[in-house]
Amino acid sequence: MQLYFNPASPFVRKVRVTAHELGLSGEIELTSVTLTPVSPHEGLRANNPLGKIPALLTGDGTVLYDSPVICEYLDSLAGGNRIYPAPGAARWTALRRQALADGIMDAAVLTRYEQTLRPQELRWREWADGQLLKIRTALDALEHESLEGVIDIGTISIACALGYLDLRFAAEGWRTSRPRLAAWLAGVSQRPSLAATAPPAQ
Ligand code: BEZ
Repeated sequence: MQLYFNPASPFVRKVRVTAHELGLSGEIELTSVTLTPVSPHEGLRANNPLGKIPALLTGDGTVLYDSPVICEYLDSLAGGNRIYPAPGAARWTALRRQALADGIMDAAVLTRYEQTLRPQELRWREWADGQLLKIRTALDALEHESLEGVIDIGTISIACALGYLDLRFAAEGWRTSRPRLAAWLAGVSQRPSLAATAPPAQ
């Protein structure tokens, strides 16, 4: 299998952590791409019309995107209901947490583009503040979740979202008012899957 990859993307990391947890990372070849919304990658666009990463070419030539679909596919290859819990309360909790974490990643990546790509004179302060409000409110909600000891698509996504905030929004100081979440991340980050996929400082 071939995964379109960028080391800074939290969505790609989520797929790689999932593969690692399922014992499948050795079956995935990484194809590095550099892209932004204003400089798309043509080879990737030929496989994913949205031109976004992650995209996975499976063994039979099918292309899957985006991260929730790829992660569920990998889970099915590993027998199913390992990273995505079986139908029931735990599954809904995991899916809701995945949506919350993916929302943090979306807001953070969009804000990153706003801060680094958009010409200074076109920047829209209220829009960026709205994205940061989403991130902060979601983090406050996560501070009250019981995450300890749970490894599923929900907690994997949360760890990757927090890792991206550390990479790109360290000045935000998210740990200050969220000590439980900070302690949880410190512990879960010791797992080989998260340690092996930590984004490089850049
Ligand atoms: C980043 O450099 O922050 C980034 C790169 C690829 C996808 C998302 C974010």
